[in-house]
Amino acid sequence: KFSKNVLMPLVTAASLLVAAPVAVAETFKMAVGDAAGGTQWELGTTFAKLFQQKTGGKHKVDLFPNGQLGSEEDTINNAAMGTLDFSILAVNNITPFSPTVGLLTMPYLIQSADEAKKLTLGEVGKELTDNTVRDAGVRIVGWAYSGFRVLTNSKRPVKTLEDLKGLVIRVPKNEIMISAYQAWGINPTPMSWSETFTGLQQRVVDGQDNPYITVSAMKFYEVQKYITNIRYIFSLEPLVVSESVFKSQKPEVQKAILEAGQEATEHSFKYLLETEDKIKKDLAARGMQITDPANGEKEWIAKATTAVWPKFYKSIGGKEKLDRAQKVLGR
Ligand code: MLT
Repeated sequence: KFSKNVLMPLVTAASLLVAAPVAVAETFKMAVGDAAGGTQWELGTTFAKLFQQKTGGKHKVDLFPNGQLGSEEDTINNAAMGTLDFSILAVNNITPFSPTVGLLTMPYLIQSADEAKKLTLGEVGKELTDNTVRDAGVRIVGWAYSGFRVLTNSKRPVKTLEDLKGLVIRVPKNEIMISAYQAWGINPTPMSWSETFTGLQQRVVDGQDNPYITVSAMKFYEVQKYITNIRYIFSLEPLVVSESVFKSQKPEVQKAILEAGQEATEHSFKYLLETEDKIKKDLAARGMQITDPANGEKEWIAKATTAVWPKFYKSIGGKEKLDRAQKVLGR
């Protein structure tokens, strides 16, 4: 009969023979703006798993969700300086650093998940990636597709622009989104994403907009009651790598980053299609009241497109960029 002391080293030696651990050469840090459980998290964890596999276990990525590494804007600054490796954030929070990305948040430009994919994975997405490297020091290597940003609030059902009046709505610090609400007749409150849950909880603001999956991951159902099913922006959430960190990697590691990013993007798209409806039902089951905007959203669409688009032609690189995007989308 073995004593415990004799048995232990035998077990350890046997397990070493079965799977010799690979020494991790480098562990990267990834900031994730949302709480665990949403589309950002799904993209990040899928990327981390694929990247580790593709480097034979030599490289690892640790994820820090829920703004633990700072606001989404901070993570861009830190990645640009090379003090942070990766970040996943909403595209609207990159626009202040690289304005041409604002094309993707032009109200009502993207009208479906397929259109979002077409723009991000084609020549438009490629150009925007090159621009963010140039302007913001980060490279987009993957996309989370998160669904349309719906409007939530704690006070009343909102169907018309008249209903919106008097509500204090939080928006990202993004000029295009601020302008959309102004076109709808209110002055929204720009606030960092990392402060938004508390802002809603403490009633500093009455409402905000984000996709169903994000509303769920962030547990906004605890502090919000009404949802208006608007479709003004399809939420795109890029995975970015610090360009200086990327450049300092060996070619095979760079290749693994790019491939893992592409595959995780494909996964993210499927995840949205499989999950969004379930999440919507779950939010209703939790007591959120979901309404459609009146008259097929016509009033919302007309106001936001006519007032907002021309104001931002210059910052997105000229009207021709919008025309090209529409052509890609077959309009
Ligand atoms: C925002 O509203 O600031 C972002 O869309 C939040 C996010 O990253 O999910």
